[in-house]
Amino acid sequence: KRLGILLSGRGSNFLAIADAIASGKLAGVEIAVVISNKVDAPGLAAARERGLNAVAIETRGRKRAEHDSEIVACLHEYQVDLVCLAGYMRLLSQEFVAAFPQRILNIHPSLLPAFPGLDAQRQTLEYGAKVAGCTMHFVDEQLDHGVIILQKTVPVLDSDDEHTLAARILEQEHIAYAEAIARVLSEKYQIVGRRYLAEA
Ligand code: GRF
Repeated sequence: KRLGILLSGRGSNFLAIADAIASGKLAGVEIAVVISNKVDAPGLAAARERGLNAVAIETRGRKRAEHDSEIVACLHEYQVDLVCLAGYMRLLSQEFVAAFPQRILNIHPSLLPAFPGLDAQRQTLEYGAKVAGCTMHFVDEQLDHGVIILQKTVPVLDSDDEHTLAARILEQEHIAYAEAIARVLSEKYQIVGRRYLAEA
């Protein structure tokens, strides 16, 4: 199966996926293309260094529909089966979501539905939550909203600041992403209402 990765920044989740593939943890899976909406995203440079197809499709000054349709065309060109948002800081249009039904994954650094949107780790600390984590979910056209595939938890320590908490969550993100890809590609699940249910 062929993955299309979308990112906007650092790309550590992308690299975790690439490492999982390289170490044989995701048999039969390859990264077909890495697309960034920022030309200077470190994640895009990392993709290039690894010899992967790396494409910048800049957002700046463009309408969402137009930008998204260019990305969808690129994903089709590289024959992508599963789209992985990995720090992609843009909402997808309905057309984009419809082009890959239940085939777009996202990771969010909180236990959804708590703390959607930007700065989830800071929101978690400021709210005073004692448990934090990350969520792998299917993407729909609402922000951080689609059906949840899996979640990982970590404690919030009294000594935490935004950075220490984010680092603890990030470790789990890197594990969660490969796990969710494997589960979704196995196709051994059903979705009932909002519930993702694994099949035996
Ligand atoms: C991660 O915390 C992810 O959960 C959020 O954006 C961040 C991206 O980090 N959606 P990276 O670019 O994968 O390192």
